[in-house]
Amino acid sequence: MFLVKFELMKIQIINGPNLNLLGVREKSIYGDTNFEAYLDTLQKRYSTSQIDYYQSNVEGEIINKLHEVGFSYDGIVLNAGAYTHTSVAIADAIAAINAPVIEVHISNVYKREEFRHHSMLAASCKGVIAGFGMDSYRLAIESLLTH
Ligand code: DQA
Repeated sequence: MFLVKFELMKIQIINGPNLNLLGVREKSIYGDTNFEAYLDTLQKRYSTSQIDYYQSNVEGEIINKLHEVGFSYDGIVLNAGAYTHTSVAIADAIAAINAPVIEVHISNVYKREEFRHHSMLAASCKGVIAGFGMDSYRLAIESLLTH
């Protein structure tokens, strides 16, 4: 008799500042879907994985969440919003944990203002996905499941 053990893949999505306003905020850049609705489609699509979601506008809370899940989850999809371009503390948190982190952006930050061209976080991340709208999150999950 064979015993097949299915390990549920645990993925944490973390959204940073102002991303609670998706669907309302600058729709021409970020689209008109709110994240909760999109999350529902992601969770249905990847129903054999556990996909958890956390959003905070506060830098320290994002760091606390990285510490909380970073030693037990299989991967983290992080859109740190504007903190991407400024936060040494979030970069240090990513470097400190075991879980691979994929940096995600909805917009193509390289097509936008110069200050968005630099990421403080990217060097500590496994990879970066930007510019595919909300689909950037799905592509990041796909990369965690296949690499
Ligand atoms: C963003 C890009 C950042 O430059 C910006 O500050 C955001 C959202 C994106 O998803 O495109 O808040 O991370």
